[in-house]
Amino acid sequence: MTKRVAILISGGGSNMVALANSMVGDHPARPVLVMSNDPQAGGLLKAQDMGIATAAVDHREFGKDRSAFEAVLHQKLEEVKPDIVCLAGFMRILTGDFTRQYEGRMLNIHPSLLPKYKGLHTHARALEAGDAEHGCTVHEVIAELDDGPILGQARLDVRADDTADSLASRLLPLEHKLYPAVLRRYASDDRSMVTFGA
Ligand code: GAR
Repeated sequence: MTKRVAILISGGGSNMVALANSMVGDHPARPVLVMSNDPQAGGLLKAQDMGIATAAVDHREFGKDRSAFEAVLHQKLEEVKPDIVCLAGFMRILTGDFTRQYEGRMLNIHPSLLPKYKGLHTHARALEAGDAEHGCTVHEVIAELDDGPILGQARLDVRADDTADSLASRLLPLEHKLYPAVLRRYASDDRSMVTFGA
């Protein structure tokens, strides 16, 4: 049976576009919703252009009340009954109470070779550490931030003249390759690791 995929974004949504573009033909899944915590997120318009239903739940309207924000997120998600939820540049920290509801069916892409550099500023931190390689990781989401079973990693060599910006822009095309490759396997109930790169 075709799996229903909801994608959560906060910004431009380039990973969302890569995921949505991949879910065609004999792919075992289809996108059913793109949702953002920011009504201005550029990715929402891209999703609409692709004919995908969208929703926005502005986190700012809930102040510090994370559980009220997450209750609305949950309600909107349940309206589309997703089999899989993909976080794709979703920049709000989700509580354990929320993520537990989706354990075993929620994925995230993070721009580092986890377990290195959980959280923000991953490219700058890899450079500061003098790492010879950097990369991105797709993992299952659990209550702990940027943690959970790793399903795929893509690596690149760090160059002597790299900046945080150049690393980010060299990494993004690898993210666009890795996340769809992992999703395709995941939607086929295949949890084996996907690896790319240096
Ligand atoms: C991507 O680089 C993604 O790995 C990162 O945000 C960017 C979103 O770009 N995610 C995180 O930092 C999550 N903690 P996109 O909106 O163009 O997909």
